[in-house]
Amino acid sequence: MNRNSALRADASIRTVPGLSRARGDFPILARKVHGKPLVYLDNAATTQKPRAVTAAIRRYYDTSNANVHRGVHALSDRATQAYEEARGRVARFLNAREDREIVFVRGATEGINLVAQTYGRVHLQAGDEVLITGMEHHSNIVPWQMACDRAGARLVVAPVDVSGELDLAAYERMLSPRTRMAAVTHVSNALGTVNPVREMIGMAHSRGVPVLVDGAQATPHTPVDVRALGCDFYVFSGHKLYGPTGIGVLYGKAEHLEAMPPYQGGGDMILRVTFEKTTYNAVPWKFEAGTPNVGGAVGLRAAIDYLDAIGLGAVSAHEGELLAYATEEVGKIPGVRVVGTAREKAGILSFVVEGVHPHDIGTILDHEGVAIRAGHHCAMPLMDRLGLPGTARASFGLYNTPAEVDLLAAGIRKAREVFR
Ligand SMILES: Cc1ncc(COP(=O)(O)O)c(C=O)c1O
Repeated sequence: MNRNSALRADASIRTVPGLSRARGDFPILARKVHGKPLVYLDNAATTQKPRAVTAAIRRYYDTSNANVHRGVHALSDRATQAYEEARGRVARFLNAREDREIVFVRGATEGINLVAQTYGRVHLQAGDEVLITGMEHHSNIVPWQMACDRAGARLVVAPVDVSGELDLAAYERMLSPRTRMAAVTHVSNALGTVNPVREMIGMAHSRGVPVLVDGAQATPHTPVDVRALGCDFYVFSGHKLYGPTGIGVLYGKAEHLEAMPPYQGGGDMILRVTFEKTTYNAVPWKFEAGTPNVGGAVGLRAAIDYLDAIGLGAVSAHEGELLAYATEEVGKIPGVRVVGTAREKAGILSFVVEGVHPHDIGTILDHEGVAIRAGHHCAMPLMDRLGLPGTARASFGLYNTPAEVDLLAAGIRKAREVFR
């Protein structure tokens, strides 16, 4: 039996210990959509939440809710402790050197904007350059464009080939004496390409250029060690990591965070305020103006605990199997072309179907209960580069099964029939 037929024969995935039971942890996966069992393959947009996460959020609000860092009462102490423990948990998750290197933000988008508007404000001058890649999500393009516009700096884009791989030699060449920052995605949300970020960071650092890594699509699929990577900044979103929406993380090396001006002004980010002058709080609170998302941080911590108990290595292996199987099953459907065939890929399968618009694929699959994404995936410049208005995208999570891949493939065949 080859690997794929073994997978097909065993839809409950016993290949990876722990994962066969995981599906039951996600109540939403038991629901029906249009009368069909839900097949959720839009994990790159957001993941579903296990009971452990929703229960932790509920427990927090039921037993410990108060404002943090301010109160002199017991609940405020508990809430502060829960919030700061969540920070410590994230620091261990990323292997940060210190807890204060973890700034809670709303998500990857806010993390990038924070760096672009603070680090960027200090370091970018007219004629300087910021280097990104041709496969960035709009979140890692527009904030840099805005920072460059303000400073009179230039956005430089390292090219991507038709397979969806970065031209690493061009990236290295484009690191010029004027480059002040490189901002690169760890994993492409549109194509699943895994970039050689460690090498890219090494190239940048050898020229004195700091690197921000957008880890929104990497953290759910692979263990990340910011110290081993050596990156200066790393961002991710809780909701793509089986945690709640509205919470995300900016990791920054302490020396950068210390030197950066604050992002937003308000409560909590200050030590003392007079009308003449404000003294800012220490890192990381200097960057966390206003009441933070304490419940979100608690939920994120629970998500990380949940993932760690399963093991990200196991998740990664499982999703790799699913991706290989899906690539084969979807790729062999007549008229289907897989978009993004990089050597290193995470659990994302983008494809186009001859004569059928991606949105129509999405709509027909939806009627079969299969949730995918269709469109430009917030990566319009990449779609332009590939000469496509958009793609259909199936993205896998730890709870998906080979049987769901079969339903995806059956739905695509049906769409072809409808549009024949
Ligand atoms: C690669 C990448 N970066 C950044 C983001 C933005 O994440 P958020 O909307 O959670 O801030 C996404 C979301 O899809 C993404 O895929």
